[in-house]
Amino acid sequence: MSYCKWWWQRDDLRYVEDSLFLGEQNLYSLAYSAGSPCYVYNSTRIKQNILRIHCALESASLPHCIFYAIKANRNPLLLSYVRGLGLSGIDCCSPSELLLARQVGFFEEEITYTGTSVSNDDLAIIARHPGIFLNCDSLSEIRRLGTLAPGREIGIRINPNIGLSYGANLKLQYSGHKTTKFGIYKDSFLEALQLAAQYNLKVTGIHCHSGWGFLNKQLPVFEMLLNELCWYVDQLKTPKYINLGGGLGVPIVKDDSPLDLEAWAKLIAKYFAPRSLKVFVEPGDYIVKDSGVLLLQVTTVERKQDKNFIYVNGGFNINLEPAFYELPLEVVPVVIRGRETSYTDSGADWIKVTIAGNINEVIDIFAEDIYLPPVQEDDYLAFINAGGYGSSMSSNHCMRGNFMEYFLYERNGAFSD
Ligand SMILES: Cc1ncc(COP(=O)(O)O)c(C=O)c1O
Repeated sequence: MSYCKWWWQRDDLRYVEDSLFLGEQNLYSLAYSAGSPCYVYNSTRIKQNILRIHCALESASLPHCIFYAIKANRNPLLLSYVRGLGLSGIDCCSPSELLLARQVGFFEEEITYTGTSVSNDDLAIIARHPGIFLNCDSLSEIRRLGTLAPGREIGIRINPNIGLSYGANLKLQYSGHKTTKFGIYKDSFLEALQLAAQYNLKVTGIHCHSGWGFLNKQLPVFEMLLNELCWYVDQLKTPKYINLGGGLGVPIVKDDSPLDLEAWAKLIAKYFAPRSLKVFVEPGDYIVKDSGVLLLQVTTVERKQDKNFIYVNGGFNINLEPAFYELPLEVVPVVIRGRETSYTDSGADWIKVTIAGNINEVIDIFAEDIYLPPVQEDDYLAFINAGGYGSSMSSNHCMRGNFMEYFLYERNGAFSD
């Protein structure tokens, strides 16, 4: 029996016979031996994702630096792997993230820092790291930093009133029409420059992170954003870099197409190559999201009124996106049952189910009315695209915050025959 091609299938994430593999790892064997909940990350995919961004920016002849947004996943093994690749630095937004980046070996000049609600205690730690690229996001931060570290180079995080997001999800926009807490708006920007000058702070960069998960459909808005950013850059006396933040998305449902990175990079080049600036980007999710899966075990299969519920042994507290941001989630069986049936990935023999977690909260639903092949109690399910913002945003709500994390390396051959 051969299965249809699943939309998310790729060389390192696919069924072999009836079992799901990530890299060379049979996920059933791992879940069975390690237990669950369990996050599994594939190093090879992380490397490929970073390289893809590099290639796109290189093919547009853009001098650039990639800073991996540590908030997406701060697993120490993953961080040291990224450090070892030497292909990217780290973007952080809190003193603890900054210190973690330093602990795993990133140099100061490989780190960008863009915080919000920055306290004096935060600033004291930041000031002890003069080599990092610091982006100030309020007039107050500029004033207080200026007092503490006059003469320092800074970037300014601006808010362009243009938001980007997966679909039209406003919850994911950091700088859309609704006034948000992030960055300095146009009406205060010249005041920000004057304030910086007052403290002899040299403003050499403009930073903007406008939202989460954009794909090709959002590229026209991305272009509007780039056009707007030029105004800010052109106000600087000695601009050195433009930092475009993160927000690059990956497909999360069947109808999504992968972001066209060449087109994305060409747009950046159109606006910033003539200005001879270094382009900084801070992708988090794009680098780790599709490298990871979350394995959970089915505790209960039960019909309640009109719904077939599948309950699992983890809750929204260890994988927040579906509940908090109402994002769709792709759930698949770790082992496909009933191979005699001919499955298609929207086949008539699939069952409409709702996947619920083990937390006593009404929002603890991972996916509603999705179609799955037959599932029984004790089976394992894999949540695809779980490598970003799953473990890092988890909490111990209901004291059910425990999970394991496995990091898959490529085999080096030393232990093979
Ligand atoms: C300043 C900044 N840079 C980068 C990122 C990473 O975003 P993403 O994971 O969507 O690429 C974020 C996310 O919140 C951010 O706030």
